[in-house]
Amino acid sequence: MGCNVNGKITGVGSAVPDRVLTNQDLEKMVDTTDEWIQARTGIRERRICETHESVSDLAVAAGQKALDMAGLVPEDIELLMLGTVTPDHRLPSTACIVQKKLGLVNAAALDIVAACAGFLHGMSIANSFIKTGQYKKIMVIGAEKLSSCTDFTDRNTCVLFGDGAGAAIIEASEGDRGILSTFLKSDGRLAELLWIPHGGSVAPPHSFENGDGKFFIQMSGTEVFRHAVRQMGDASLQVLKQAGLKSDDVDMMVPHQANIRIMESAAKRIGIPVERVFMNIAKYGNTSAASVPIALDDAVRSGRIKEGDVLLMAAFGGGLTWASAAVKW
Ligand code: ACO
Repeated sequence: MGCNVNGKITGVGSAVPDRVLTNQDLEKMVDTTDEWIQARTGIRERRICETHESVSDLAVAAGQKALDMAGLVPEDIELLMLGTVTPDHRLPSTACIVQKKLGLVNAAALDIVAACAGFLHGMSIANSFIKTGQYKKIMVIGAEKLSSCTDFTDRNTCVLFGDGAGAAIIEASEGDRGILSTFLKSDGRLAELLWIPHGGSVAPPHSFENGDGKFFIQMSGTEVFRHAVRQMGDASLQVLKQAGLKSDDVDMMVPHQANIRIMESAAKRIGIPVERVFMNIAKYGNTSAASVPIALDDAVRSGRIKEGDVLLMAAFGGGLTWASAAVKW
């Protein structure tokens, strides 16, 4: 393979649970209002799994739609990477469970733990594997059941999160379309701004009584907000520069859907008018690793993205981690 080979997104898909949790529902659960949630976050409702619905179920549904759009069969996929912080089990990886359910018999499968930036980490790694020639057909999924680690008595967090999955097929391509550049970065010094203290090997579940709040997501919202605007903005400028592009060249920005105010502020920092920022946070809330691929799928299927468009994707999450990608569709 020549060095002009890069990854091209040939299929996308998404899946969310049927159950809708509205702001009005949350008004009955915690001291909040629809008005506050809409004004401070842009969220109107989110989807929540039933107890029996799993991250792998959502991932399989999204992955199948992406396969169909790409015109591939499960046997074609050589690598599956799945971004999640809410795996079905601690062992094995959720990617291995999805591999079994989808019948990806020829694939290697692994999970990526990079919170809301998980999908873009997967896309970047996929593009690198394609450039080395090791793989030609890769599935990347972001899937979460955040409701499984959300404290529904904590108004600071429970209004923000939702469940869902999004997927993309990335194939080797020699044309000028595809992934133009990617950027990844982390800062582990800020880990405790957004984390789940208990449930890992430091504080295993069997050593605590049920009801320990530290099994839930804990977040310093205002500080995370500040970092998100700066890092998503700077990562976007960096990835555009790497691709030899300017803000004006971007036809559509598809950012992580964490908060409408974060998206607006980041777009302003980059110099992209808000009309060119795709937003579906009102319907789904923050679905962490699933948010960028669900937004991408929504944008593609609703006709907002056309062949040849330049897309800018950016995400930010726990770790802290952040990532961006420039793509010619
Ligand atoms: N309803 C009503 N009032 C609320 C609610 C609520 N649901 N939540 C918080 N408040 C109150 C607070 O208690 C506070 O009251 P106080 O001043 O009396 O203490 C007041 O509203 C203002 O709170 P702030 O935290 O200053 O509000 P802010 O403008 O920062 O918005 C929010 C809070 C929405 C959480 C915001 O900070 C945010 O979106 N942060 C980033 C989230 C994010 O991007 N996370 C990263 C990805 S998530 C992942 O990786 C899984």
